[in-house]
Amino acid sequence: MQKIVWCFTILFMMVWFSACGEQEEGADGLSEFERNYGIGPITERLDIGDLDMEMAQEGKRIFETFCQACHQLDSRITGPRMRNVANEREPEFIMNYILNPTENREKHPIGQELDEEYAIQMVSMGLSQEDARKVLEFLRAAAENEI
Ligand code: HEC
Repeated sequence: MQKIVWCFTILFMMVWFSACGEQEEGADGLSEFERNYGIGPITERLDIGDLDMEMAQEGKRIFETFCQACHQLDSRITGPRMRNVANEREPEFIMNYILNPTENREKHPIGQELDEEYAIQMVSMGLSQEDARKVLEFLRAAAENEI
């Protein structure tokens, strides 16, 4: 009997220690990456490179179709104005927000703050990662007043 108890104690301690090693979570339950770059499918830093105006133009069309009903570049409507978002937030955060707004609003401190400020909530537009990247390029161009 005592042997079994010992086995369980040792097993429990092994699980406990390995869990401690893996996670870098804080009190808010977010990993260091999520806190800095948002929660979603983008889990590594992106290699962004120089502004690609061709991609930005494609992103503009996607933005006009899926986002403009709630967002304008220079004025707040249903959602926040978008002119400076690429200066204010990390590129990975913007993509994670586009691809996974609900979870960011519920769990990320920036999303929680936005949620308090806006009456209507953003929903996922179901964009592919590739299209979200194009919209990000459009927002980068907008932040540099190139578009
Ligand atoms: C139904 C209205 C609606 C649509 C459509 C919508 N959004 Fe939003 N968006 C919001 C609102 C409201 C917020 C504020 C927080 C929230 O509700 O999640 C927001 C927040 C954001 C943020 C975070 C802003 C910040 O300060 O960090 C980004 C980025 C964003 N939206 C981009 C987009 C893009 C790009 C699209 C199109 C693919 C889009 N949104 C479509 C309403 C919308």
